[in-house]
Amino acid sequence: MFQSRLKDAATRVQTHLDATLAPMGDLPVVQAMRYTSAGGKRLRAFLVLESARLHGIDPDQAIWPATAIEAIHAYSLVHDDLPCMDDDDLRRGQPTVHKKWDYATAVLAGDALQTLGFEMAAHPDCSPIGEVRAELAVTLARAAGAQGMVLGQALDIAAETASVPLTLAEITALQAGKTGALIAWSAQCGARMAQADTSALKHYANNLGLAFQIADDILDVEGDAAKLGKAVGKDADAGKATFVSLLGLDAAKVRAHELVEDACDALHLYGQDADTLREAARFVISRDS
Ligand code: IPE
Ligand code: IPE
Ligand code: MG
Ligand code: MG
Ligand code: MG
Repeated sequence: MFQSRLKDAATRVQTHLDATLAPMGDLPVVQAMRYTSAGGKRLRAFLVLESARLHGIDPDQAIWPATAIEAIHAYSLVHDDLPCMDDDDLRRGQPTVHKKWDYATAVLAGDALQTLGFEMAAHPDCSPIGEVRAELAVTLARAAGAQGMVLGQALDIAAETASVPLTLAEITALQAGKTGALIAWSAQCGARMAQADTSALKHYANNLGLAFQIADDILDVEGDAAKLGKAVGKDADAGKATFVSLLGLDAAKVRAHELVEDACDALHLYGQDADTLREAARFVISRDS
C-alpha cells in the first residue's frame, strides 16, 4: 500500500508542478526550476497527502501543500549543493543546477522555488478557510526558516569546523532542524487542514525525521551512488557531525530502528488507518535511495 501511495503522490505532484511552471516561460531560471523540481522520492508530499487522507481532507485541496513542500525541499537541495555549502555535482542522478547552469541561476531558482512553495501553501484552492491557509503559511515559514531548516543547515556547516565534536544532543538538534522540520510540517499538514489536534502526527514525524536523516548519513557511508543519484562518502571528508560520526554505524542503525518504532507507536489513536504511515517509517530506514 505504501509504495503505491508514494508513487501516486509522485505522479500527482509532478502533474501539479508541470501545470504551474508551464506558463512561466523559458528563462534559464525557470528551466532550472523545472529541472530541479523533477524527480525525488516525494516522501514529504506523500506525508501531506496521507495525513490529509487520515483527516478526511479532499485530495484536490491537499495537493497544494503537497506540491508546496516539494518546491521548498527542492530549493533546499539546490542551495545545499552549492559550492559554499556541500559542493556537490550530482543530484537525483543529474548534474546539480550550478553545474548545468551557473551559481546565479542556482541561487535564483532556489529562491523562486521557495516563494512558489509559499504561494501554493496559501493558495485559495488549498482550503476555503482563510485561517487554515494562514496557519499553513506561517507554520511552513517557521519550519523552513531560522528556527527550522535554515537553522539546521547553519549548524551543519558550522559543525564542519567546530573545535570540539558535537554532542548527541547537539547533533539531534541540528538534524531536527535541517531535515526534521520540513518532514514534521508535512506529516502534520492534514491535521492542520482539518483544524484538528496535530500532536500525534508531530510525535510521529519528529521521530521519523531523525530516523530519515540517520538513514541518509548511513547511506553516505554504505550506499550506492548510482542508486542514490548523488555522491557518497562526502560527510566524513567534510567533517560533518552525524549520528554515524558520533556513534558509529551499528549504534546509528539501532537508534534509527528505535526511532521508527517510537514513530509507529505515536499513531495508536489512528488505529489501522495509519498503517501506511507506519510502512512509510519502516521504508525510511530500509531504503537504498
Ligand atoms: C535528501 O532528501 C536531503 C535530506 C534531507 C537528507 P531526500 O532523500 O528526500 O531527497 P529526494 O527528494 O528523494 O531526492
Ligand atoms: C540536506 O542534508 C538537508 C537539506 C537540504 C535541508 P544533506 O546535505 O545530508 O543532504 P544530501 O546528502 O546532500 O542529500
Ligand atoms: Mg548538507
Ligand atoms: Mg548535501
Ligand atoms: Mg546527506
